[in-house]
Amino acid sequence: MKIIKRSAYRPEPHLCVVLPVFKGMDPGELWQEFPTLEFPARRRKFKGEIGEALACHSLEEQRLFLLLGAGRPGSLPDARKLACRAMALLHENRVDRTLIYFTAAGPYSAGYLQTFSDYLHLNNYRFDRYKKKKSKPVDRIQLVFKKRVPLQAAELKTREAVLEETKRVRDLVNEVPAKIHPDSLVAQFSESASRHSLELSVWRKKELEENAMNGLLAVGASSCCEPALLSLSYAPKGFRRTVALVGKGITFDAGGLNLKPGNSMEEMKCDMAGAAAVLGAVSAAARLRLPLRVTALAPLAENLPGRRAYKPGDIITYANRKTVEIVNTDAEGRLILADALIIAARQKPDMIIELSTLTGAIVTALGDSYAGLFCRNRKLSAGLTRAGEASGELLWEMPLPEEYRESITSKVADLKNANYNGASSVKAGLFLSEFAGKIPFAHIDIAGTAFLSKPNFCLGAEGATGFGVRLLVEFMKELSRA
Ligand code: BES
Ligand code: MN
Ligand code: ZN
Repeated sequence: MKIIKRSAYRPEPHLCVVLPVFKGMDPGELWQEFPTLEFPARRRKFKGEIGEALACHSLEEQRLFLLLGAGRPGSLPDARKLACRAMALLHENRVDRTLIYFTAAGPYSAGYLQTFSDYLHLNNYRFDRYKKKKSKPVDRIQLVFKKRVPLQAAELKTREAVLEETKRVRDLVNEVPAKIHPDSLVAQFSESASRHSLELSVWRKKELEENAMNGLLAVGASSCCEPALLSLSYAPKGFRRTVALVGKGITFDAGGLNLKPGNSMEEMKCDMAGAAAVLGAVSAAARLRLPLRVTALAPLAENLPGRRAYKPGDIITYANRKTVEIVNTDAEGRLILADALIIAARQKPDMIIELSTLTGAIVTALGDSYAGLFCRNRKLSAGLTRAGEASGELLWEMPLPEEYRESITSKVADLKNANYNGASSVKAGLFLSEFAGKIPFAHIDIAGTAFLSKPNFCLGAEGATGFGVRLLVEFMKELSRA
């Protein structure tokens, strides 16, 4: 979808026009410009609250007007909801071109405008590849502001690139499990590598064995598709800082021999959402030419039961000589991430940020609007939290208490991969921290936010959200400025 800024209100004949109305703002000016809308709006006692919507077919002007409550001027959450509501109505009315006219004076900060345009893109997405009847996406939006606003055409292009990467991630996570396995994700990573001239290294079974990537080899043992460890790097000339991104890539999580019960397997195609997000983030960093070196590491495997499956009681020895007792084969994410973190830490980046659909417990704790952030480095956690607020991909900080370390200590190995006495998200975070060495490290548990079983008001459509791409891009943008 193209979003373009126009300097004057001059809609083509018949074009649908969206008019946001802010709460507490005198609509007098609006009625002056659109007298035919005054009566219906007054009759509906239109106050500008978020959620209010009025569709008016104007005979005089021969066009559809959508009057939308825009909430508080300047509020980012309201900007998200406004965009969500606008796109829902445009889809409902099968409108593919529109003009959004902001008649009221600001305040429209750069952040407000970025949020608004991002959420127009996000809410234009539908996964209907497998439907005979396709939805009709919007393909062009003109934004018109009566007063000057801090929005450059180049910025809209930049957001388009970031949102294109987000869309790609959503498509990958939504795609059916029959089509997503380590092989097909290797192909996706190579596609990004050639498109953006990035460096890709691919380790398959042979290299994983040579490098003692024993978590990946254990978890991936039962699948007919070999596990993989991918490293995709963007290194611009003259970079000063290096960020390692790590993303969990379980292409399907059946639980392994500790088979998932009941309907808890239903959505487990989403267990590669971390890997997809870091692919999107490094691709976006390259497209935006951020002055940072960014390496995305993705451990990929399928977690299935089978003749060769790894078993509870097994002990894995890692490349850093740490040993881990397998208590539950369904706590597989941390096992493959440990391999990737060891490799990431060896490259001595300035920081490691890791994203994973790691625990069901984070869904219980934070639901589908906040991802859990686990980080002992104050500067890193503050930077990520700020990026979350700016992007709308919100984070909530969780503790990593020393006190719980003993609960993941095994009697027969250095660590164990599960413990059943509560706080499983926290214990998973503690487990991962053991593998990042001394590098500033953040773990982000996206099990609740990566894939939605019901629509969330702001993220619009159900299914994959692409969570992480916009968050990481925002964080890296700020980092390259600092
Ligand atoms: N992939 C799951 C976590 C998950 C749950 C992701 C819900 C998305 C939505 C993970 O591998 C898992 O199975 N975790 C277990 C860990 C337990 C066995 C210690 C869990 O959270 O139940
Ligand atoms: Mn699992
Ligand atoms: Zn999993």
